[in-house]
Amino acid sequence: MIAIRGATTVDRDCPEQIKECVKELLLELKDRNNLTSENIICIILSSTSDIRSYYPAKAAREAGFYSVPLFSTSEPDIDGGLKLCIRIMVLAEISTSANAVYLRGATVLRKDITQIYNIALDGPAGSGKSTVSKILGKKLNILCLDTGAMYRACALKCMYEGVSVSDETAVSFIMKNINLEVKYENGEQHTFLDGKDVSADIRKPEISMLASTVSALGCVRGKMVCLQREIAAKTSCILDGRDIGTNVLPNAKYKFYLTASPEVRAKRRVEDNRQKGFVTPYDEILKEIIERDNQDKNRKIAPLLQAKDAILIDSSQMTIDEVVSFIENKIQEKI
Ligand code: DC
Repeated sequence: MIAIRGATTVDRDCPEQIKECVKELLLELKDRNNLTSENIICIILSSTSDIRSYYPAKAAREAGFYSVPLFSTSEPDIDGGLKLCIRIMVLAEISTSANAVYLRGATVLRKDITQIYNIALDGPAGSGKSTVSKILGKKLNILCLDTGAMYRACALKCMYEGVSVSDETAVSFIMKNINLEVKYENGEQHTFLDGKDVSADIRKPEISMLASTVSALGCVRGKMVCLQREIAAKTSCILDGRDIGTNVLPNAKYKFYLTASPEVRAKRRVEDNRQKGFVTPYDEILKEIIERDNQDKNRKIAPLLQAKDAILIDSSQMTIDEVVSFIENKIQEKI
């Protein structure tokens, strides 16, 4: 069972406003958490003492929550507390994490979830960016965008079309018509090329180097960066990549640069590949990691680089959980 919180405010203590705002908040909570009358256990409502003209629980009944047990109470007067505020807690039996909803004037109570913010997580191949970003995305309840997946999809498209990833003229023709989409299912990113889910295909080891080469081309970066900025403008998200803090979102609120020694990264990559069913020799992976670092760091456009205001994390001696806690603490300090 989980508890989902929400709050809203009314401009005046009048029944019509209370009914409208309670309904709006409940429907939003229902929508964002896939709630049904079967999975809601009960709803607790409270309101500040300046709300006297209508019971919020009655408004909830009228909003269609007929069979759910409701409990409504009045809050004590606290100096400096928000006025004309209605708070809701829904207890529900759902397996996903809770999406709290704060509307109208109540948004001041939760700046962390009501204001769009972005986290830039850059670093070289195998530094643990995507694992860290997936865990953080879940914990903070924000989207995570693996931007490397997008460059991998561009490389895959070139491969399907029989085009060399270093032939800029041919690649730029492909980029004009590429149908690349990023969608989310249960919080997991899926990458689609021409309507087909290629999330598994882009992870094949042979795509890594091709992605690095194709990502150096201006025609590829221009298009991908636009897509990344569009996604980041709409919703709070953590973007992992190479140039997020320096180029894609130079004004991101939080920036981290995650790295580790090439040897540690190679070891991790061999293990990752093994879990995905690919047997890759350590020496070969180490060589490729060094080569890819070189290529990503030395390309002309938006090379892999730590942004001046990014926090450096060397994860060579750290576990994934330690990296996640470190980043979480840094974010908390700044909220
Ligand atoms: O993170 P990854 O291994 O999936 O990325 C594959 C390649 O894509 C990487 O070698 C360089 C490129 N890339 C990039 O140029 N800019 C990004 N923001 C992300 C990835």
